[in-house]
Amino acid sequence: EQIEKGGYEHFMLKEIHEQPKAIRDTYRGRLLSDEAIIKMAGVEDNMKTFLNANRIIIIACGTSWHAGLVAEYIFEEFARIPVEVEYASEFRYRNPVINENDVVIAISQSGETADTLAAIKLAKSRGAFVFGVCNVVGSSIARETHAGAYTHAGPEIGVASTKAFTTQITVLTLIALRLARAKGTMSSSDFRLYLRELELIPQKVEQLLNVDDHVKDIARQYLLSPNCLYLGRGYNFPVALEGALKLKEISYIHAEGYPAAEMKHGPIALIDDRMPVIVIATSKGHYEKVVSNIQEIKSRKGKIIAVVTQGDTAVKEIADHVIEIPESEEAFSPLLTTIPLQLLSYHIAVMRNCNVDQPRNLAKSVTVE
Ligand code: G6P
Repeated sequence: EQIEKGGYEHFMLKEIHEQPKAIRDTYRGRLLSDEAIIKMAGVEDNMKTFLNANRIIIIACGTSWHAGLVAEYIFEEFARIPVEVEYASEFRYRNPVINENDVVIAISQSGETADTLAAIKLAKSRGAFVFGVCNVVGSSIARETHAGAYTHAGPEIGVASTKAFTTQITVLTLIALRLARAKGTMSSSDFRLYLRELELIPQKVEQLLNVDDHVKDIARQYLLSPNCLYLGRGYNFPVALEGALKLKEISYIHAEGYPAAEMKHGPIALIDDRMPVIVIATSKGHYEKVVSNIQEIKSRKGKIIAVVTQGDTAVKEIADHVIEIPESEEAFSPLLTTIPLQLLSYHIAVMRNCNVDQPRNLAKSVTVE
């Protein structure tokens, strides 16, 4: 096992550090920036179905569901196709309105999650076309779907999903970009720009992993907090949910993710000088609005850990801690903002002596309903 961990203390840390390679492996051979094309057989072969779809319904569980939420923003922005994101377990039990004009995208790292598999069968029985995004080759979901695209994350051993999440977002982004070109909802110059930007993400993640020591220092100061709030907006709202999930999964600290603007409808009541609030405030993501949320937290003495874009000045003046991420297109920022949140959960869990790779009561793949 020590050999498999490749010198890292835990699989989770190894998998966090594997993300630059995993993301690159996922778009390799599919993203051809010189020719300005995206090649994905599963999409190409079914292009008509995708283009004629009334809507896309994404079904998944856990972290994969969060990747689906990021994809919702990306598909709607790039390809202008309406998207709904569903928990597989809710979708399958509520007699959903779905037919042959719907395209379902099922996302699953393991390809074995029982609820997701059952939801796929239901969608198929109502005539929908089902496309799978799985990591494990030949898994049940990969076999049950009509077509699909694998993430090439490599084996993920840590129960808390890390590289599976960022590679799912990568594949879904490629699909959205391909459909955007086919539909003509994105200009060829923007398309080229996004392809080049996406190719820069692995090196930006690499650079970002250097924040590890800084994040560790922050972790040390909050490891005894009983609660934690995560806020984000737009593309980074799902990242706030994922950050909170990571923390509760492995450190057993109660954490909630919220859209930043919804704070005033509830969570603000919880803020006092013992409440750490992690806020994602990227420069292109409704920045002024998020800054005013940060001010509201500050005036209630909440402790602010802000994830900002390099060069930020306004948030730095107010926040207790800032973690800088390299600049990117806002649509791709979840691939960056999520990294320090993974590291923060990891370090807090290690300092609390928790079993990081195999947290209590959780399974890597949930094959029961
Ligand atoms: C379990 C795992 C999570 C995962 C979820 C969905 O809860 O612990 O890490 O996100 O299942 O799994 P899947 O394999 O379908 O992505």
